[in-house]
Amino acid sequence: MQRSWYRKRSLYNIEAREAGRILIDGKWLWDFASNDYLGLSHNEIILKQVLEGLRGKTGALGSTASRLLSGNRDYYRHIEGRWAAFRGKTDALFFSSGYQLNVSLIRSLIDDPREVIVFADRLVHASILDGILLSGADFRRYRHNELSDLERQLKKYRAKYREAWIISETLFSMEGDFADIDGLIGLARDYESRLYIDEAHSTGIWEIPSLDKCDILIGTFGKAYGLWGAYVCVDNGQYIERIINRCRGFIFSTAPPPMLFMAVEAVMDLYENDMDFKESIDSYKRKVQDFNERMFPGRQGDKASQIIPFILGEDKTTLDVASMLRQRGLFVPAIRPPTVPEGTSRLRISLSLDNIAAWEELLETLLTVE
Ligand SMILES: Cc1ncc(COP(=O)(O)O)c(C=O)c1O
Repeated sequence: MQRSWYRKRSLYNIEAREAGRILIDGKWLWDFASNDYLGLSHNEIILKQVLEGLRGKTGALGSTASRLLSGNRDYYRHIEGRWAAFRGKTDALFFSSGYQLNVSLIRSLIDDPREVIVFADRLVHASILDGILLSGADFRRYRHNELSDLERQLKKYRAKYREAWIISETLFSMEGDFADIDGLIGLARDYESRLYIDEAHSTGIWEIPSLDKCDILIGTFGKAYGLWGAYVCVDNGQYIERIINRCRGFIFSTAPPPMLFMAVEAVMDLYENDMDFKESIDSYKRKVQDFNERMFPGRQGDKASQIIPFILGEDKTTLDVASMLRQRGLFVPAIRPPTVPEGTSRLRISLSLDNIAAWEELLETLLTVE
């Protein structure tokens, strides 16, 4: 059968959902596809706080306009300030989605794209790639997580431009491996470049101490925080005026609704006050490390995270293994090009607190795959 057939995607109809499980075609399956790593999308404490908040505010369902028109609210800036401090920065702005943010932010950060070069990890998310292309700046990709290749390119090209940006993720969404953030900070300093980091998949779970040193920190609320939407954090108001005045994704889009700000506030309260929740994250991380070590003996540290790529190479093999798992009640998505590079089709396993009861079964089944 032609390869294009194996690349065709279709939507699954999820008939019902409960913690860690989804009902598809009348069959309950363990959900290893969701990015709701901590199960916060259905957290009762957050839900209660949001519902109470919604009842207390008039016009709380929608924000009514772009924030530059009548879509801003007093408490939006208050929550954003608190969020920035939570992420080790001084200022933040929220967007409705990470795609919208990445795609529109990069252009707003630079003046004349003809004087700017962007260096990005080869495997950054599509939204970053689209944002760089739309920015009009010159663009070079370095080999995934290879800082020696980044430095080689910085040596060769940096001096030809007035301004340079280095862009990476903290935890790569399809590889499940961590970038060397300290190494990136060092190169940005040595080659007078600015650092733009997307922490979408690590935030809320993995502490990455030096992240506060990057110029632009972005992340999403749709992964470990179980919500939707995104944030950009900076220091000392740097770039905030620019973003408000020049970022098309901010200017020409209805502001995120009050519900998002209320939910983010509830999430912060949970992280700040709930010791049991914090302990559950620590225990989850230990179990994630253990799963990685059993699945890939010797794998630790920068490779072991809650995102596990099980690379099979061919599209058809990957679809076949996904279908075998599904028959056993395990829903693990098959990820194929162009989402991942050619020849690296894979199962993307997302380990969450919600699906923990099925980790053992998944591990044992996968260890039998040739
Ligand atoms: C690294 C990264 N950045 C941004 C996004 C986009 O975020 P959102 O889903 O909020 O549009 C994703 C989505 O998967 C992502 O993996």
